[in-house]
Amino acid sequence: MLDTPDFLYGTAWKEERTAGLTELALRAGFRGIDTANQRRHYFEAAVGEGLAAAYRAGVVTRADLFLQTKFTYRGGQDHRLPYDPDADLPTQVAQSMASSLEHLGTDRVDSYVLHGPASGSRWTDDDALVWIAMARERDAGRTRMLGVSNISLRQLHELADSGAELPAFVQNRCFARFGWDRGVRDFCREHGIVYQGFSLLTANREVLGDPLVAEIAAREKATPAQVVFAFSRRVGMLPLTGTSDPVHMAQDLASRDVTLSADEVSAIEHIAG
Ligand SMILES: NC(=O)c1ccc[n+]([C@@H]2O[C@H](COP(=O)([O-])OP(=O)(O)OC[C@H]3O[C@@H](n4cnc5c(N)ncnc54)[C@H](OP(=O)(O)O)[C@@H]3O)[C@@H](O)[C@H]2O)c1
Repeated sequence: MLDTPDFLYGTAWKEERTAGLTELALRAGFRGIDTANQRRHYFEAAVGEGLAAAYRAGVVTRADLFLQTKFTYRGGQDHRLPYDPDADLPTQVAQSMASSLEHLGTDRVDSYVLHGPASGSRWTDDDALVWIAMARERDAGRTRMLGVSNISLRQLHELADSGAELPAFVQNRCFARFGWDRGVRDFCREHGIVYQGFSLLTANREVLGDPLVAEIAAREKATPAQVVFAFSRRVGMLPLTGTSDPVHMAQDLASRDVTLSADEVSAIEHIAG
């Protein structure tokens, strides 16, 4: 299986277009797919249909891919639950994982992510319980790695201080005005955790219109969006894109070829905060 890709294609908010766009993303060259067993925002079964279509067409095999999905607490779900809401949390994790594997047509995902801690501010006993249950899934071979999403620096410290195993991935919304989540990224770098950044474009519209970014884009014959993705990689992030546009899919992948100087990377890092 692909170790860790350098781009993740995000499948949120695509509803009936999910299968087609997943297949299109694979045809465009994406090899990392991000989803969640949270029907409210994702259609995981349709991601599986898109994967199956790509396998059938000979575009990719499972071994070429990095598949990531998530466990979402009851509070983040609507009525379409992948588990028994009356079951205890470890059972919900096991049921959600079994459902994800069925949706995705695989017996192992590459990364299993806690969609967000139970509380907005602390790493709680519930999180500790879920985290142990997720590690059990990993030990049973149903995921290669574990991650946590929507997590603050304080919660990461609390997780670490509890003596629990650290995640392989942190997936956060990345705001330029908060130094592109500088505190969490620093923690990740110090602990060998791969930082996955989402909403790199939608959360940072001011950066896309910034003169420095425009200047670099003009020089590199690229778009401001490509400069942002290139920057994210230069500071060690694994970026996500959720584009529905085949031209943008190609451009997002081509951001690998955009070259930035160390000074430019530093300037963009401090562009808004
Ligand atoms: N863990 C979480 O709680 C969480 C939350 C949100 C998202 N995510 C994950 O992250 C993924 C991506 O979400 P996101 O918020 O980063 O992206 P997104 O909401 O899907 O939006 C990407 C936006 O950028 C545009 N775009 C992409 N490439 C572009 C380009 N080259 N030029 C111009 N515009 C471009 C897209 O427009 P076009 O479609 O027109 O290209 C779209 O409007 C989601 O699908 C999901 O998998 C996770």
